[in-house]
Formats: sequence, structure tokens, C-alpha cells
Amino acid sequence: MLPGPTNVPERVTRAMFTHIINHRSPDFVELYTEVIEKTQQVFQTKNDVVALSSSGTGAVEASVVNLIKKGDKVIIPVNGEFSSRLSQMLEWQGANVIKLETTPGTNATLEQVKEAFDNNNDVKAFYVVHNETSTGTQVKYLDKISELTSRNDSYYVVDSISLLGGVELPVDKWNIDVCMAGSQKALAAPPGISPISVSPRAKKYMIENPPPTMYFNLARYFKYYEESKHTPFTPALPLLYAFREALRMILEEGMDARIKRHKICSDALYSGLSAIGLTPFAKEEDRSITIIALNYLDGLDDNTFRNTLANKFRVLVAGGFGNLKGKVFRVGCMGEVHRYHVMRTISAIASTLDMMGYKTNTVNALKIAEEKLKNL
Ligand SMILES: Cc1ncc(COP(=O)(O)O)c(C=O)c1O
Repeated sequence: MLPGPTNVPERVTRAMFTHIINHRSPDFVELYTEVIEKTQQVFQTKNDVVALSSSGTGAVEASVVNLIKKGDKVIIPVNGEFSSRLSQMLEWQGANVIKLETTPGTNATLEQVKEAFDNNNDVKAFYVVHNETSTGTQVKYLDKISELTSRNDSYYVVDSISLLGGVELPVDKWNIDVCMAGSQKALAAPPGISPISVSPRAKKYMIENPPPTMYFNLARYFKYYEESKHTPFTPALPLLYAFREALRMILEEGMDARIKRHKICSDALYSGLSAIGLTPFAKEEDRSITIIALNYLDGLDDNTFRNTLANKFRVLVAGGFGNLKGKVFRVGCMGEVHRYHVMRTISAIASTLDMMGYKTNTVNALKIAEEKLKNL
């Protein structure tokens, strides 16, 4: 139940055990084109997609180095570790970064974002971390942003690494120019493949203004794909096989059913865990579907709690980041998550709390969660 990497279905794991093929062969073309076409379906886009052999940070860095030049003005909401890292990358790139900073656990409101656009009519791009994994907050107005970016044709860039595959994110309908996901999160594949989609106008810009970098030069990937359906560099072949299998499973389930399952499991976890006396860290309207961050009860030791949960009950959850270390723990609700994971996590957390001397009403919590799961 980590916020990534998440559980990987047996079928996906098995797909990695295969011969290593020549990445300049028809076999590779078949593998890679299927990966790209299926990723486009999951992203709901006709835009170009590159499946980078890298962790999520690689895709995020690619979105920065290919689109941003020294002095460009960028707006970005900042409310935790991943949005801070992204704003730092933008600053390192020389951008003039307008940070909409809010207390961790809350998001900048749409009004604050509008105000930033009102005050800056020369914005080059709006960057946003869809789901701040460090605090369990999710931005819920991404469908409204293109009304703002369209004012002066600024670019719209979304890091949806810890959400895409688990919630609604129609890239084309919402006019998102660049969108990133991570294989190890809601897509339920092993870590190491990070897909990134690029709109035609962003692609044109990237080709005309290539960055002084080799590996993450996206124009190079577009060229290779157009000419031969290859990648410019040697891809992580076993991971691509696994990722293809994960995409097949996602599309077999159907995105609507998958989104519904994530939502129901998330509701059940929030309700059940609240019923045993835990409180979510994030403000109610900003709470993430896939990352459930909970405040520790007074005096509850982070290491003892998580070690007991892992060693006695075999349930893994994550601790907090930076100054939230020891104050919150985070439960991932992503990928394969189903009834079994929800019920087992709630009961294991309740038993661990009981063992550590906190009284919980486990039966009631499980009943509440069970009731929510009836809709599955
Ligand atoms: C929102 C977000 N962005 C970026 C990253 C970085 O991904 P990676 O650790 O795969 O490089 C993460 C990882 O958790 C994330 O949650």
C-alpha cells in the first residue's frame, strides 16, 4: 500500500521474463508502437507520446528542459516536495518562476491561479503537480486551466505521475500540452518507464528550439519515431514488455471502471481509517484519491508503527517527507487496489494501533468501509 511503487500483477511481472530483443528490429517496432498507441488511449490523447526509460523525475525534467528558456515566465502552485522540486528545476533552467505557495495539505484555489494569470499576461507556461504525493493533495480544477492558458497561448504542463491511470485526465479535452505519468504508480507496472505526451504546438516549439541535452532531447525521440518507430537510445526492454502488459490490463478493465474502482477504494479507506480515529492530513476538498496521508495520533512513533505494520501484518505504508516526517504516514490507493487491499489495510492498521495501546473500534471501521465497497 505504498504511494509507489505499487503492487504489480503477476501477468505484468511475467511479461518481463523474455528474450532481450534487438531494439533496431521489427519485434521492437511491434512492442514500442503498441506501448505508444495504448498509452495514448490511457491519456485520452492523439498527441505524440514518448515512453522514456527513466523514473518519473526524468519525464518531469524533460518537460522543463525542452520547453523553458532563460527568462521565461512560469506560474506554478507549490505545496509540497514534488511541486517544490519542479519549481526548483524551473529556476535552474533560468525561468522567472511565479510560485503560488500554499500550506501543505491545501491547494492554491482556482481564483488564486486566475489572479496570477490576470497579473501576468506574458506567461510562457503553467506547470502543475496534479497530485502532491508528499501530502496527499490533488488539484481538482485542471479542466478549467486551458481557459487561462488560451489567453496568450501559454503552455499547459501537468505532472500527473501519481494519478494518471487512476483518475479522469483527458489530455486532449483539457488541452494539456505536456503531460507526464509514472509506470510505478496507478499504471501498476514496475518503475522505470515514464510516458510523456506532447501537443503539436509544443512539439513544434521543441523541434525549433532544441535543448543542449542529449538523453532528454524530445525532438530526437519524435524524429526516431517518425522515421523508424525506434527510440534514439537503448530502451529498458524488459520494462517495456511489462509496461505493455500493464497497459493491456488497464484497457481490458476499461478506464471508466478503473477510475470508479480507485474512487470507491479511496472513499472506503478514508472512511474506514477515519472511523478508527485517524484524521486525513489534507483539507477535505483537496484530498487525493490515490494518496491517503494521515496524521499520526499523539505519541505514536513513526518507525514502531510502520515496522509493526510491515513485520506483523505485511502491510507497507510510507512515512512523511521533510518536516512531515514522523507527523504523517501515507497509504497508496493505486493500481491493483481492490476490496481485499482496503479491508486488510484497515484491519492491519487498527490491530497495530491496538498493539501499541490505542483503543480502536475495528468492527465499526470495517463495516463502514464494507458499506462503501458495496458499490464496486
Ligand atoms: C508527483 C510526483 N512527481 C514526480 C515524482 C518523481 O518520480 P520518480 O521517483 O519516479 O523519479 C513523484 C514520485 O513519487 C511524484 O509523486
